Amino acid sequence: MIEKNKAYHLGIIMDGNGRWAEGRGLSRLAGHREGAQALKKIVRACPQMQVGTLSLFAFSQANWKRDKVEVDGLWDLLREQLSIHLNELVAEGVRLRVLGDREGIPPDVVKVINDLETRSETGMNLLLNIALNYDGLDEVVRAINTTLSTGTGFNSPAFPSQLVSNLDTGPSRPVDILIRTGMPQAKDGMSIWRSSGFLPLQSVEAVCVSLETLWPDMTPLKLSEVIAYADPESRLFGGQRLAKS
Ligand code: FPP
Repeated sequence: MIEKNKAYHLGIIMDGNGRWAEGRGLSRLAGHREGAQALKKIVRACPQMQVGTLSLFAFSQANWKRDKVEVDGLWDLLREQLSIHLNELVAEGVRLRVLGDREGIPPDVVKVINDLETRSETGMNLLLNIALNYDGLDEVVRAINTTLSTGTGFNSPAFPSQLVSNLDTGPSRPVDILIRTGMPQAKDGMSIWRSSGFLPLQSVEAVCVSLETLWPDMTPLKLSEVIAYADPESRLFGGQRLAKS
């Protein structure tokens, strides 16, 4: 049972768009487009599920290695989503923040992102982090450099908290539940989990859930079931389970 007045931070690695499309004889881009539709419904439902922050892995630095047609199509889709659908969500009280290295993002997209981030600064319904041109190690290295160049040395007791504040997510709540869709499920008692370097420092205490559902088939109902199943309130953070009296 999810407690009221909690504002969880969910991280989602949206995997399975390509397989969803290939299974229907469609192009991989048709799968990404369907994935964007699923995303919009989920973003709208988050505030009712006690989700205060939603972090999405939309385009990794490794994704540049894909076929040029798919890469160009993904950026065109992102352009469309940012200027139409995210624009609508921002008007509904969603605060947008983009994670990742902006140096590698097409300049016209950076312009749209900067504008949406500024306009949505006061959005209170949901903090939506979208990772674009993101790589976890790259994020940590950039945060270390910022922390060192703003005066705090490795040996300072303040270093760990300043480092975390300098991550792309800023001084926000750590990830409570990290979800990856499109994962093969348990065989002989074994399950596969891959984080692909998503939010490595922010997820150190996260409950990780792998789902067979391909991202375009994901629904708000399924997400509410995942939150209840993951039950982040039951974490012990290294402590000990107390015996029931
Ligand atoms: C991974 O599936 C998915 C991506 C690389 C892209 C995710 C992007 C979207 C859902 C559109 C996002 C829109 C916004 C506004 C954030 P895959 O292609 O690796 O799937 P596969 O493993 O089945 O091949």
